[in-house]
Amino acid sequence: MRIKKPTGIPGLDLMLKGGVPSGNQIILQGGPGVGKTLLGFEFLYRGAEKGENGILFSFEEDNEDIVQNAKSAFSSFTNIDSFIEKGKITILDSQDTKQYIQRNRDGNAYTFGSFISEIESMIRSHEAKRIVIDSISVIRLFIPELLDYRSLSISLSSVLKRNNITSLLLIEENNYEKPNVFYQPESYIYDGFISLFFTGNNSENRVPTIEIIKMRGTEHMYSGVPFEITDNGFNLLLLNKFEINDK
Ligand SMILES: Nc1ncnc2c1ncn2[C@@H]1O[C@H](COP(=O)(O)OP(=O)(O)O)[C@@H](O)[C@H]1O
Ligand SMILES: [Mg+2]
Repeated sequence: MRIKKPTGIPGLDLMLKGGVPSGNQIILQGGPGVGKTLLGFEFLYRGAEKGENGILFSFEEDNEDIVQNAKSAFSSFTNIDSFIEKGKITILDSQDTKQYIQRNRDGNAYTFGSFISEIESMIRSHEAKRIVIDSISVIRLFIPELLDYRSLSISLSSVLKRNNITSLLLIEENNYEKPNVFYQPESYIYDGFISLFFTGNNSENRVPTIEIIKMRGTEHMYSGVPFEITDNGFNLLLLNKFEINDK
């Protein structure tokens, strides 16, 4: 049995029967506005509370927006500024990360070669244990050639793994449905796959739901669980005692 690391997000740890097997790289997929970035942020915040430093690589937003959105959603997270000041949470925003999107030597394709090496040196200099990449969809966008994308994904996964990082790698889905993961290379390469989606068929009864589709190295709950985003973080509505005690 591998060592499990609680994420610090109570409902998610219950779904994972204790936590994430140490060193698992996890895809977090969902449509726009479903809560991926906020869940990624809470994952880093909960890590910082436990003395596990984290780094957010954002290709999408700037620093101020990330911090302001997190503060506005999670008003009881009073240590955000101090965690950032002390280097327990480090944010590289879209201004910082755009340097990683480079043309190759011929100038006809993109590479992320420096990203992989930079991640490793940042992990070491920040003594990081958790990483969030928001999002790896950007990498896929710039590397349309599937074999190149796959090979980069494998390099990314192995760099994270050999540094014993637990990571959340976000994927932007272009709809709110539960994804069909079978043809996605990410579902095979990475250790875990968590999906955020809405159930319900119109805007009046949409219910945000989290489901663990795959998690190597542990038992986990299979059914989707509704959630809400509260001042105090993600609240998973595990109402059914059977769900909590199950196995
Ligand atoms: N202050 C808040 N309180 C509760 N929910 C919020 C708050 N601010 C944003 N949200 C919810 O979070 C969603 C945005 O989450 P985000 O993590 O940025 O989504 P994603 O990264 O999946 O696009 C919003 O659509 C809204 O539903
Ligand atoms: Mg986002």
